[in-house]
Amino acid sequence: MTETESAGRRIDTSRPHPARVYDWFLGGKDNYPVDEELGRRITSMQADAPRHARANRRFMERATRVVLRETGIRQFLDIGSGIPTEPNLHQIAQSVAPDARVVYVDNDPIVLAHAKALLHGTPEGATRYVQADAREPERILEGAASVLDFDRPVALSLIALLHFVADEDGAHELVDTLVDALTPGSCLVLSAMTADFDPENVRKGIAAYTASGVTLVARSHAEIGRFFKGLDLMEPGIVSLTDWHPSAGEDAEEGGPVSLYGAVGIKR
Ligand SMILES: C[S@@+](CC[C@H](N)C(=O)[O-])C[C@H]1O[C@@H](n2cnc3c(N)ncnc32)[C@H](O)[C@@H]1O
Repeated sequence: MTETESAGRRIDTSRPHPARVYDWFLGGKDNYPVDEELGRRITSMQADAPRHARANRRFMERATRVVLRETGIRQFLDIGSGIPTEPNLHQIAQSVAPDARVVYVDNDPIVLAHAKALLHGTPEGATRYVQADAREPERILEGAASVLDFDRPVALSLIALLHFVADEDGAHELVDTLVDALTPGSCLVLSAMTADFDPENVRKGIAAYTASGVTLVARSHAEIGRFFKGLDLMEPGIVSLTDWHPSAGEDAEEGGPVSLYGAVGIKR
């Protein structure tokens, strides 16, 4: 089953957008000169920024597999899903559980423009794309309810999203509203930026994003921990993405810690 929502919003190429800058870091083609310019500025200050983006993508893949294996969850709500990049979350989930149901949400018109790629799933499963802002959690829950059964556990994925939402813009309220809507046995999968490992370069990166009109916030270990209040953290807790169930063999993570924490918490 596939469906999408339309929203005739314009792609603004006069200023960088997080989804497109991230696509540039990942070597994608769905970005514009303004996005590349900001990406290059960040990379000139923090040469391994593309490695951090790749590590984040790989965290999404590992976390999705671990959640499927260790919790049995078969429903995913992925907010801030980004421009489709293979393997997408539903491809990972449905390769393990063909009946997995996935709802993607993003607020960027470029993601909507490419959303069809997020909807080619298995016939047994379901995927849906909802164009919405994370700061409207009730709207997201309403849109997701046509595909997800909220009486059964859901994995809420907020991967590399919350550093674009400041506390004063409702970051904690949106997480609380979404987690409150989940039944026990559900989980929160989260990655978010931190300055704990590389304060100087992260500070410069934030200044570059801010100068381009993009809100970006780094959070400490304790501040990330607040998003998990009332949830039981899976081992190994809140760690650099590279240390969260690190992959072995050819896929092993290169380099040291990255400037993003990752964690999974279970609702009891
Ligand atoms: C860095 S990308 C991460 C993409 C994907 N989750 C991943 O980790 O590979 C962040 C995404 O969050 C989206 N985003 C940022 N703020 C948002 C908001 N307030 N509501 C919905 N999406 C948002 C951006 O458009 C972008 O696609």
